[in-house]
Amino acid sequence: MAFEYPDDLDPAWNPRFPEFAHAANSISLLMPYAEPYFVTAVRGALDGLDPDLRERTRFYLGQEMQHQRQHRRFNDLVERRYPRIVGPERWMARTYGWLRDTRSQRFNLAFAAGSETIAYGIARWSERQLGPLFAGADSVVATLFLWHLAEEVEHKSAAFDVWEALDGKRWRYALAMTLSFVILVWFTTWATLLMLAGDRRLLSPVAWFRLTRWAVSLAFTLIPTMAASALPGHHPSSFADPVFLPAWLAQYDPQTRTLPVVSL
Ligand SMILES: [Fe+2]
Ligand SMILES: [Fe+2]
Repeated sequence: MAFEYPDDLDPAWNPRFPEFAHAANSISLLMPYAEPYFVTAVRGALDGLDPDLRERTRFYLGQEMQHQRQHRRFNDLVERRYPRIVGPERWMARTYGWLRDTRSQRFNLAFAAGSETIAYGIARWSERQLGPLFAGADSVVATLFLWHLAEEVEHKSAAFDVWEALDGKRWRYALAMTLSFVILVWFTTWATLLMLAGDRRLLSPVAWFRLTRWAVSLAFTLIPTMAASALPGHHPSSFADPVFLPAWLAQYDPQTRTLPVVSL
């Protein structure tokens, strides 16, 4: 994908709901640290996979490397506007680096698989909120997030299959996924508050009301999704795909390396 951000891009790219942009940006900030960690864990397992799964896994690794690369470029623009977010970014680097260096390969694979389930749940929730949350938003940034979410739906089973082939212990998967969720909530809350403070809206009741409502609504999708995925015998392929995101992703134009602009 080729993303060209305008020079005057507003990092609060959703004028109707700037606090939604902050929350989404906070997730974007995690990507250059979380996704390379998943890639390292899964790449280290390639040799133990059968050729078919190895091939599919390579495709998944390519997608994740692209995601984090594109988010890194976008995050630089966010950082310029909200310089205090380098604080949480440093801790993100330390946290995922510590996991990578100190945990077992099986734990790291379970963490990647569980994180992919969380990403799928976020995609499913976002598709239901498409109109209210993305209407009037900057089209390049909306495309960045929607492209990423669409590919998360596409490869929802990839890391899971690798974890299942090499480990398959559900308790480890549940534990690692819960940890991934706690880390996500902690860093997104921290970075969102810093961006709200940067806009002098830290004490805005409207911002708090909206953020709380979205968080509760997201939790109602995410927690049952995570719980179902941890049940014995469950496979992500039995999760129903959202309708719009895969259909939109299928319209990718390899000539221009673009997707159609989503107008909501
Ligand atoms: Fe990704
Ligand atoms: Fe992913």
